[in-house]
Formats: sequence, structure tokens, C-alpha cells
Amino acid sequence: FEVNWNAEAAEKGGYEHFMLKEIYEQPKAVRDTISPRLNKDNTAIVLNELKWTKQYVEAFNKVYIIACGTAYHAGLVGKYYIEKLARIPVEIDIASEFRYRDPIIDDHTLTIVISQSGETSDTLAALKESKRLGAKTLAVTNVVGSSIAREADQVMYTWAGPEIAVASTKAYTTQLVTMFILAMYMSSLKGTISPERTHELLTELRHLPDQVGRTLEDVEPIKAFAKNYAYNNDVFYIGRSLDYYVALEGALKLKEISYIHAEAYAAGELKHGTLALIESGVPVIALATQKSVYEKTLSNIKEVKARDAVIIGIAAADDNELEKYVDHVIKVPTTDELLIPLLTVVPLQLLAYYAAITRGCDVDKPRNLAKSVTVE
Ligand code: AGP
Repeated sequence: FEVNWNAEAAEKGGYEHFMLKEIYEQPKAVRDTISPRLNKDNTAIVLNELKWTKQYVEAFNKVYIIACGTAYHAGLVGKYYIEKLARIPVEIDIASEFRYRDPIIDDHTLTIVISQSGETSDTLAALKESKRLGAKTLAVTNVVGSSIAREADQVMYTWAGPEIAVASTKAYTTQLVTMFILAMYMSSLKGTISPERTHELLTELRHLPDQVGRTLEDVEPIKAFAKNYAYNNDVFYIGRSLDYYVALEGALKLKEISYIHAEAYAAGELKHGTLALIESGVPVIALATQKSVYEKTLSNIKEVKARDAVIIGIAAADDNELEKYVDHVIKVPTTDELLIPLLTVVPLQLLAYYAAITRGCDVDKPRNLAKSVTVE
């Protein structure tokens, strides 16, 4: 037994849990996923694994993204990227729903399935169904030679390295970056964004791994919040636009490993019911990084503040406004708002991790869950 224990400790590389190790591996994972696909002067995405043409991309009149759990949350961000940059309508579905709803798909559809393990049975079945209906299929997966990688027409690998902890962290950030790279690639083929904007975004992309590293430099405040709020019964996450999708992922992480009830809401949706749950002392994590909806998000933050919630704001480093309206603020490096989800998710992963530690939960193996869900 001692031998096994030592082997496991060695695999954790000095970290107490695989999850923490994997959180800290994100700068490298993101770099490994970007580097082979970005040209030297940050002017073009090079995707040797796809080699698409303008004609090939223009033939798609619809994209479908299908995934489960965290991969689904990455898909939501992917939908935003493809619609914003490549201007192709994207539908997204949870794999277990997609299979049973008679989806409208034909040979002008591109189906993208996202799966860390490449073995999730609902995602695999959705992929097969999509193929049967005539779609071109692309898998975004982390496992070379997995069932999903083998079944799809084409594959883009996330180069996160093995992810052992049940809670997905580095797989998520590498999925986001892969979807961004794909959207940029499609947009350059279609000519939907200018060379100047392309250069600007790809320069930000080049800096991203270092910026992810910077989010990991000072975790003490996050530890303190996690300790303070680890015994609350409910935590709410709010945001708009891309911030909402990150909020969904933050809430899932907290539920999964700390067993605290957490819910994410599109901030503008609060007053359609959820606001009734906000009372004195309830922690609300508010993401406010998206300029086009910033003022709207602030007014939603004021709504929860008026109910005496405790608000932890997540903002970009150059934001000097949010701290006036929230109880605490966590700042991440400033980058283009399209890429900031890769940074804002990191404190949320850490919050979940330290809340779970405070509550004495088995972080790497949360109850009732498996790393790879190969049953329906
Ligand atoms: C994430 O923390 C979860 N453990 C879970 O939602 C996971 O992302 C989901 O089961 C999908 O797995 P896959 O990426 O391997 O298909």
C-alpha cells in the first residue's frame, strides 16, 4: 500500500490534490494548445489538422455544438466566438437532450462535439446521430485515439495533458482556447474580420498563457473568501454575455466538489424570479468584464446589493468602478473581452477548491460522480 501511496503522491507533483495541480498547469496547457496553431508574427491561425478552404467553410449554413457538463459550458463560449467572429449561426445542445429531439441537420451543418475524455456516451451517440443525418463532424477532445476522436470526421486536440481530477479545470480552459482558435480560423477564411483586428486578437492570444499564470500568483484573498463563505447554504453567480457562461461553470465547480447549492443566472434574468431568493448575507459572485453590458450588469449588482447580499465582484485589472458597488473584488489581468473568460474562470475554480477543502470534501473524487460518464 505504501508503494501505491507514494506513487500517487509523486504523480501529484507536490500538490495536495490533482485538481489543484491541474489548476496550476493551466498556463502550460493553454500555451501548448495555442503554440502549434499561431504563426510567428501573430497574424494568422495555422490549423494543419483541418486545412479548410474558404469554399468549405462557406458551405456551412449552421453549426451545432454538442457536449455535456463543463464541456457544454465551453461550448456556450464557443457558440459566442463563432457567431461573433465567423458570423455563422450556432445552435448548442446538451448531448443527452440532442439525441432525443429530432434535430434539423443536413450536409450544410457542421457538428462540433466537445469532450475532454472523448468517451462520454451521450456525446458519442450525438456525434453518431449527427453523422447519420449528414453533418460534417469535428471533435474537440483531449484524448488522442478516444472513441469520439475516432468517430468524428476531423479532430482538434486540446493539449491539456491528462486530467485526473473529476472536476474539469485545464480541460475547460484549453477547450475555450481551441474554440477561439477555430472561430478565428473560420473568420479568416470567410473574411469576416479585418487583418488589423485579427492581429490585435492574436497578439492578446499570444500573451494569454502568461496572464493565466498571473491569476495564480496571489490566491490568499480567494482562500479567505472560501473560508468565510464555505458554510453558506446557497451561492449565486451572475453575469451577462460571456460572463454568464463563466458563471455557469463557476457554479458547477462549486456544486460538484463542495456540495454547496450554487446557481448561475444571466444577471438580467434575476428579476424574473430568482431575486426572491436573495436575502441578507447570501454570497453573490458577480462577473463584470463585458463592456457592451457593463452598465446593465452594474444595475443588476445594485439590485442584489439592495437586498443586502454579500457581493464578490470579478473584474479586469483596469476596472476602477466595480469596487464601489461590491463588498470584495477579485481582479484578473486586462485582455480583450473575448478572451477574459480564460482568466475569470481561474478564481472561480480556486474558490470552489478552497471551499471544498474547508468543508473537508474529497476534492478529487466527489461523491456520486465519475471522471468519464460512459453510461447514458
Ligand atoms: C466537470 O467538472 C464535470 N466533471 C463534467 O461536467 C464533465 O465535464 C462532463 O461529464 C463531460 O465530460 P467529457 O468532457 O469527458 O465529455
